[in-house]
Amino acid sequence: MNERSRTTHNRVEVLHGVNLEMLGQRPSEIYGDLSFDNLTVAIRRFARELDLEVRFFHTNHEGEFVERLHRVRGLTDGVLLNPGAWTHYSWAIRDALEITGLPAVEVHLSDLSQREEWRRHSVLDGLVIGSISGKGPEGYREALAMLKGKIEA
Ligand code: DQA
Repeated sequence: MNERSRTTHNRVEVLHGVNLEMLGQRPSEIYGDLSFDNLTVAIRRFARELDLEVRFFHTNHEGEFVERLHRVRGLTDGVLLNPGAWTHYSWAIRDALEITGLPAVEVHLSDLSQREEWRRHSVLDGLVIGSISGKGPEGYREALAMLKGKIEA
């Protein structure tokens, strides 16, 4: 891989959805005790180790999340998203992600397979190149590595 493609295909947009900024105040037996700010610090470190450039976005408003997805095309090479509860019902977010045409990986801190029935379905199924759940912050490292493999391929 030459230097040029290295620098132009290493951008990842990290999108956090509803209630994620409340980490640290959510049940620690499910989400751990890392604050949202410290999660961001950890993701930055993972990205640096992988030579990826990350940009962050968070909102509690579904329409803003959708509009961010509309704008990322051309500005990033891959998408890492944890839409929170929207994961389980927002077909609008699925459609918006599809419009980006970008490789995307879904991450959940908690293990969705061990939680309520309604959390076991993701609207992103079949659209994302990977879905990681139940690994806490480490899941973000795995997701970034997965995206790196795809965007640098
Ligand atoms: C979550 C899981 C969702 O079911 C929940 O609504 C969240 C966080 C996770 O990271 O484990 O808000 O996406």
